[in-house]
Amino acid sequence: MKDLVTIIFNPMGKVVEVERGSILLDVIREAGIMIHSICGGHGECGTCRVILNKGKVSKTSTRYRKWLSPQEISEGYHLACQIRVLSDSEFTIPIESLVFSPKILLSAEMKIEDIKPASRKYLIEPPFLRTGEQGLIRLRGYSGPYPKVDEEVYRKILSIKDKEPITATLTMANNYPEIIDVEIGDRTDSNYGLAIDLGTTTIVTLLVKLTNGKILGSISELNSQITYGEALVARIAYAKEPEGLKKLQRKAVESINDLIDRLTSNLGIKKEDITDISIGGNTVMNHLLAGLDPAYLSYVDGNEKVSRNPIIRKAKDLGINANTRAYIYCLPNVSRFLGGDAVGDVLASGIYDSNELSLLVDMGTNGEIIFGNNLWLMSASCASGPAFEGGGIKFGIRAMQGGIEHLKISPETFEAEYTVIGDTRPRGICGSGIIDAAAEMFSVGILDFTGKIVEGRTPLVRRGRDGLEYILVPTEKTAIRRDIVITQRDMDYLMDSKAATCGAIIVLMRKLKISIYEIKNLYLAGAFGAYADLKNATKFGIFPEFPNAKIHPLGNGSLAGAYTTHLSVEKRKKTKEIAEKMFYVDLLVDTMFSDAYSESLYVPGRKEFFPNYGF
Ligand code: FES
Repeated sequence: MKDLVTIIFNPMGKVVEVERGSILLDVIREAGIMIHSICGGHGECGTCRVILNKGKVSKTSTRYRKWLSPQEISEGYHLACQIRVLSDSEFTIPIESLVFSPKILLSAEMKIEDIKPASRKYLIEPPFLRTGEQGLIRLRGYSGPYPKVDEEVYRKILSIKDKEPITATLTMANNYPEIIDVEIGDRTDSNYGLAIDLGTTTIVTLLVKLTNGKILGSISELNSQITYGEALVARIAYAKEPEGLKKLQRKAVESINDLIDRLTSNLGIKKEDITDISIGGNTVMNHLLAGLDPAYLSYVDGNEKVSRNPIIRKAKDLGINANTRAYIYCLPNVSRFLGGDAVGDVLASGIYDSNELSLLVDMGTNGEIIFGNNLWLMSASCASGPAFEGGGIKFGIRAMQGGIEHLKISPETFEAEYTVIGDTRPRGICGSGIIDAAAEMFSVGILDFTGKIVEGRTPLVRRGRDGLEYILVPTEKTAIRRDIVITQRDMDYLMDSKAATCGAIIVLMRKLKISIYEIKNLYLAGAFGAYADLKNATKFGIFPEFPNAKIHPLGNGSLAGAYTTHLSVEKRKKTKEIAEKMFYVDLLVDTMFSDAYSESLYVPGRKEFFPNYGF
C-alpha cells in the first residue's frame, strides 16, 4: 500500500495526495501549478521558491544557501526542487514564483496575396466509377495529379458513395495530393486550420478559415512543459530518459489540445473540420512535439545532423485533437539553435526577396542573427540568455502584469520613475525595463563602462548579499514586500548577454566584410522589437548603431511564418528554399567569436560600431 501524505498549496487552495518522500517540485508540476523552474529542478536558479507553513520536509542538498538569505530561511522559504515532503504539509507559493501568462505578441504583418492552402475541400463528381481495384475519383474544380487515397479513406468512400453530395478533403501537405477524408453533404465551406507559434514559454494559436484566410480566433497559453525547465538545455536534459521525452511530448500536445478545445467551442467549429496545422517552433520544440530524441542537439556536431526538411506528421500520430488524418507541418529547422521559428521570421520579413542588405535579430533566450538579401543568407545563433526577457535576473519577470516595462532615472536624485504593466504596484522588472535600467544607470553614472555598479554617488546604491545593488523600487512601493533591486550579479549576467549578442553580430559583419553603414533594414522580431526602447538597447551596446537602416519591428515572426505557410503551398516551398540556402556559422567553434565577445564587454562598445555613443 502506498504511504500517502496530503499537501495544501496556497493561495490557490489546491489539495493533493502524494507519496511521502516526493520531491515538492514534482508534486507542484503534477498538480498543474505553473511555477518558475528555470534550471529544470537542479537547484541552480533559485526561482522555485515556496514557503513552508506547516509540516515536515527534508532537504536534498545545501544549494538553497546560494539563493535564500538567512532571513528568508527563517521565514520558511525553501527551493521546491530541493526538498522532499515527509508529512501532511501546507505551502504558500509566493507571487514571484508563479508563472503568469505573458503579454502575447500577435503578428504585425500577415498578408497573403494568393490564398492556396495545403488543404482544400472539393465535391466528388458523380458518378463514382469503379475501375478494377479502386474507383476513379474526380473532384470538381481540381485539375492536378490523381490523388493518393489510403485504404481507410477508400473504404469510407465506398460506404457513403450513394449518398450525394460527397465532399473530399484534399491536401498537398506531404508534397503529393492526397485525399485525407470524405464527408456526406456539401461541406466545402467548412474547412479550417491552425497556425501555431510553438514557443518554449508560450504557445500562440490562430484558427484560420482556409477558404479565405480569415483569422477567426486567436488564443495563447503557457507551454505546460515550462515547469520542466525554462531553458532549452534543461528540456533536452529532461528528455534524455524515454519517459521524460514522452512526458514533454504529451505536455506540448496537451497545451495545443487545450487551445483547440477553447477555440473550437468558442467559435462552434467541429474539430474534424481542422484539416491542416502549421507550426513555427525552434528546433528543440519541433523535436519534442514530434517525439524525436533531441539528445544529439546538445553536441556541436549535432548541427550537421539537423535535417532541413520540414517535420510532417499526422494529427492522430501525435495525439492532436483535430481531424485525425490532418497533417501537422513544422517549418524546417536549420541547425541546433536556429529552427523553424527563425525561418518563419525570415519569411515574414521578406529579406530573402529584397536586393537591399538587411539584418534580422530575434532576441529570445537564444538569439538569432540573420544577414542577407535576395542572393544569400548568413546566420548565427548566440546564447543571449533569458536576461532580455526577464529571466535569470534577481527581480526579473516576463512581460506580464506587475512587470516594470519602462523606466528613467533622475540624474539629480537617482530615483527611478517607471511604468508597470497593468498599472499595478510592481512585483518585478521585465525585459524592456531591464534594458532601460542598464542604459539609464550608465547614463547617470551609477554603472561604469565595464558594467560595474559605482558606489558612493547615491545612497540608493548599497552593499547587498550579491555585492553592490541599486534600489530601483523601495519596499513600500512594491507588491512583494521587498525592495526591487538591480544587483551586480544581474549586471554581470546582462553584460554577458549583451556581449554574446553584439559579438555575434560583429563576427558575421567581419566575415561578410560589411560596415554598419551598409545595412538598409533592421528587422527586430519578438517582444524585444515590440517593447524594447531601441535607443537604450544601442546605448547599452546590445547591438551596433546602424545609421542608414530603417527599423522594422516584426512582431511574432514565427506565428506569421506558420500562418503564411498555412495558406500557401508556394510559401511552404519557399521556407524549404530559405532553410537550405541559409549559411550557418557555429559561433561555439568559431575562432573570431571570443575576440568579438571580449571587445563587446564594454558599454556600449567601439566607435567603429557605435559612432555616436562609443569610445
Ligand atoms: S532552483 Fe529549483 S528549479 Fe532551479
